[in-house]
Amino acid sequence: MKQNIHTPNIKDARAEFMTLRNGVAVHKQTDMFSPYSPAWLITNEDIRWVSGTTSDEAKRVLTVCGSGDHPIFYAMNGAQNVDTFDLSFCAKALMDIKTTAIQKMSYEEYVPFLYDLYYKTPDELPTLQRMLGDMPRDTAYFIKNMGNCMMFSHACNPDSYKEHLPTAREYAQIQRKIHKPFNFIWSDLCQVNTKLTGEYDVINLSNILDYIQKPETVHNILETMGKRLRPGGWMIAQNGYFGISKHHNTYYTASKKFESWARIGTLPKEKNKANTELIAVLQRVR
Ligand SMILES: C[S@@+](CC[C@H](N)C(=O)[O-])C[C@H]1O[C@@H](n2cnc3c(N)ncnc32)[C@H](O)[C@@H]1O
Repeated sequence: MKQNIHTPNIKDARAEFMTLRNGVAVHKQTDMFSPYSPAWLITNEDIRWVSGTTSDEAKRVLTVCGSGDHPIFYAMNGAQNVDTFDLSFCAKALMDIKTTAIQKMSYEEYVPFLYDLYYKTPDELPTLQRMLGDMPRDTAYFIKNMGNCMMFSHACNPDSYKEHLPTAREYAQIQRKIHKPFNFIWSDLCQVNTKLTGEYDVINLSNILDYIQKPETVHNILETMGKRLRPGGWMIAQNGYFGISKHHNTYYTASKKFESWARIGTLPKEKNKANTELIAVLQRVR
C-alpha cells in the first residue's frame, strides 16, 4: 500500500506542551486527543485475544496505531500487511520506537526500556538517542526536536496494563515477524477512508469510537470504512477497561442501516459472564 509520509510541525507540536520549572514539558490537555497528544505506552485492550480471533484470515489489516501494540500483535499473529492510522504523531513515534527496539533489544532490555519511555523524556534516554539513526526520518526528526517532552505517558502507568505486555515467548515471535516499520496514516478517523488504496481483511477501530459523541458520525465511519473491507472481512471495535460498552447501542442500531451488506454482533471473551471484554464486530457479507 501507498506509504504516507508527513513531516511533523515542531512549532505546532511544542505549542501543545508546556515546560515546567524542571525543564520537562508536559501536554497541556491531558484528557483530549490532538495531532501531538501523548501516546498510550501499552495497550489498554486485550489485543492478544482480539488479533488471535482472526489470525487465520487477517492477512491485510488496518488498525489504530495508539501504543503500536495493535500492529505488533497482528503481525505476530500472521498479518502480512498492516497499515495503521492515528490522529497523533506521538503514536507513530512510539510505534516506530517499538519496531526499532524489537530489532535491537533482548526481552530483558525491552521491558524496562518501555517503562523508561513512560517515566522519562527522550533527552534522558541515551538508549533511545542511539536508535534514532535506524528510525524513519520523520520520527527521528520529531523525537530529536521534542527531546524534553513527555510524549508516551498518556493515562495510567504501565503497571496498570502490564498483563498486556508481550511475554518472552511472544517477543521472540514478534522479533521473527517484524523487520520494518509499519505504514502510518496521520489522520482523523473521519477522513481515513479517503487515504486508503486497498481492501482489508480486518479493520480494527478499537477504543476510538468511544470518543465520538454523535451516533451519526459513527454510522458514517462504519459505512465508509465498510467499503474498504473485502467480502467476509471484519470490522472490529474492542472495549478497553472503560471502553465501548456505553456505545453498544450505536452498534446495535447500526445493524438496520447496514443489513444490506453486513451482519453485526458482539463476541464476549467469556460467555455468560458480565463485563468481560467484548468485541463489537461488523462483518461484510456481500
Ligand atoms: C484510547 S487510545 C488507546 C490506545 C489504544 N487502544 C491501544 O491499544 O494502543 C486511542 C488512540 O486513538 C487515537 N484517536 C482518538 N481519536 C481519534 C480520531 N478521531 N481519529 C484518529 N485517531 C484518534 C488517539 O490518538 C489514541 O492513540
